[in-house]
Amino acid sequence: MKNKKSELGVCYYPEQWPDNLWADDAKKMADIGLSRVRIGEFAWSFIEPEPEQFEWAWLDRAIDTLAEQNLSVILGTPTATPPKWLVDAYPEILARDRDGRVRGFGSRRHYCFSSPVYRRETARIVETMAERYGAHDAVVAWQTDNEYGCHDTVRSYSEAARDAFREYARQRYSTIDALNEAWGCSFWSQRYRDFSEIELPNLTVTEPNPAHVLAFFRFSSDQVVSYNKLQTDILRRLSPGRDLLHNFMGFFFDFDHFDVSEDLDAVGWDSYPLGFLDVAPFPYADKERYLRQGHPDLAAFHHDLYRACGRGRWQIHEQQPGPVNWAEHNPAPLNGMVRLWTAEAFAHGAECVNYFRWRQAPFAQEQMHAGLERPNGSPAPAFNEAKEAAKDIASLKKIDPKPTSPVAIIFSYDAAWLFETQPQGGTWRYPAIVFEWYSALRRFGVDVDFIRDTDDFNSYHLIVCPSLPILPDSFVARCANSTAKFLFGPRTGSKTREYQVPPDLAPGALRELIPLTVTHSESLPEWRRENATLHGAEIAGKTWLDHVETELAPIAARDDGAGLWFREGRVSYLTTLPDEVFLGLVMHAHLTDAGVANLLLPPDLRIARTETQTFAFNYGPDQTEIPEEIAPRGGVYELGGDRLGPASFAVWNHT
Ligand code: GAL
Repeated sequence: MKNKKSELGVCYYPEQWPDNLWADDAKKMADIGLSRVRIGEFAWSFIEPEPEQFEWAWLDRAIDTLAEQNLSVILGTPTATPPKWLVDAYPEILARDRDGRVRGFGSRRHYCFSSPVYRRETARIVETMAERYGAHDAVVAWQTDNEYGCHDTVRSYSEAARDAFREYARQRYSTIDALNEAWGCSFWSQRYRDFSEIELPNLTVTEPNPAHVLAFFRFSSDQVVSYNKLQTDILRRLSPGRDLLHNFMGFFFDFDHFDVSEDLDAVGWDSYPLGFLDVAPFPYADKERYLRQGHPDLAAFHHDLYRACGRGRWQIHEQQPGPVNWAEHNPAPLNGMVRLWTAEAFAHGAECVNYFRWRQAPFAQEQMHAGLERPNGSPAPAFNEAKEAAKDIASLKKIDPKPTSPVAIIFSYDAAWLFETQPQGGTWRYPAIVFEWYSALRRFGVDVDFIRDTDDFNSYHLIVCPSLPILPDSFVARCANSTAKFLFGPRTGSKTREYQVPPDLAPGALRELIPLTVTHSESLPEWRRENATLHGAEIAGKTWLDHVETELAPIAARDDGAGLWFREGRVSYLTTLPDEVFLGLVMHAHLTDAGVANLLLPPDLRIARTETQTFAFNYGPDQTEIPEEIAPRGGVYELGGDRLGPASFAVWNHT
């Protein structure tokens, strides 16, 4: 089952089509250069239409039909859609939302991760499927479930979740006094006498205790991890040698994707650049400029984050092919974008890109979602783009792996939950901050890795940490023992593991690296700017301001002396979130100081490098030129050239 590199594939739902179409579909897939097909992830009621009565004939035939065209199969476990008979037999498997309402049957993801009955039923269906197809030659990989957490389903407020949370609390705190202490239960008379008194942190009159909420978020993430592991343990046993995968989502942080990935062989994610641009809080100007391309850093951000989760191995399970159905507005991509997105994924190290989906469904929830084919089987625009993408891969012959980047960003899911719990300012959005800093680095043409706060820091020249409220135990020692330069943002070191203010105030243990103490902090409205000048440029801080006591002279300060940027040796601390100009100056200074070659790119251009190749992508609506410093004129391009029209890209060898 060797994993081939740079493959194209498609998501296919044989159960939704008459079986006399399958052979022709499979042939067309192979003809346009696809080699993988993802099937099965919503097919439970077709596999087991009645309890314990299995219908395999159709799935056997579907897999064989694909295999006849040399298409390999990623088989999904169907647990995202428990059938009606199962729900009726065991209504306790259903999740409950924050308001306590049952999440009913009729769409998907209605189960609760904590339900022991659902875990039992999951094990049963996964085992049965793995016994049947685990050794099938065409089945090269499994996808567990589908998009954990989609439709806000990580956190369930069911009885099963409450019982499991009580057990989690008992394990974590051992005694109820320890829990009372950790959560600060002397406040508002919250003392508990026993773990059996602990409720879930919903339906309170006002804000629940943040330590309680954070504990619940951590618990909910762990439930996803153990639920996924339930499946991977079975699949590893019954289907050895196959890659175990899951498809993550964009801009989604409700569980720790690093933790879930530890039980997977490679990570997948579902890339819908136009849908995400529409639903995420991007400035209006970006939404307008990139309406039909997606934000230039949006796909890349997730490619890099999930490459980190997959320890280098990742792929796209679902690539947007045209308008989707689920955003508020659903424009069509510019001609060429589907092909560009495909190439960009490979430039960031993807092993495979699967388009979602083969043929647009004429019925049900996603009937307005494009596919490679229209509902009547005629080719949609993405059909030809997929074909072009297959030719791109063939003409490049080989796309090399992505090496370790010189720059890393520390990303923490725990930080995301902590700030979500008590943001202390409506404009403080941790994932958006990380994205903004990532984007600022990418504007300088550098490749970026994501790392965890528990990783080794030695491979990097520059480590950027937009904020890390809780510093893990060995964090400061690992910084001190590395040779990297560090850039920390505000609120770093501002909380203890149990969501309290550190005894010696923020930035806690970080003070060993940079001698300052945060005496108080302010959060600021969207429109407020803390103005200063730096090297003659007008700069500003926004969103947040830490006021510090320190002997250090600030590198940048407000007119009244309040420091915005401090530095000691290899370590910088920003007391505020820099505006665009300030952020650019800070990143440029740090890249240069860390010895990382960089060049400010034209605004719509992005670069990504494999070991030997450089890819350049034009995300803008106009033509742009690749700067000479990056691609020497007269150089030999493997694809494209110096000048890039809208939605086009170039590739050249940089060795
Ligand atoms: C994903 C999901 C698919 C399909 C797709 C539509 O979130 O995994 O099943 O719903 O979105 O864009």
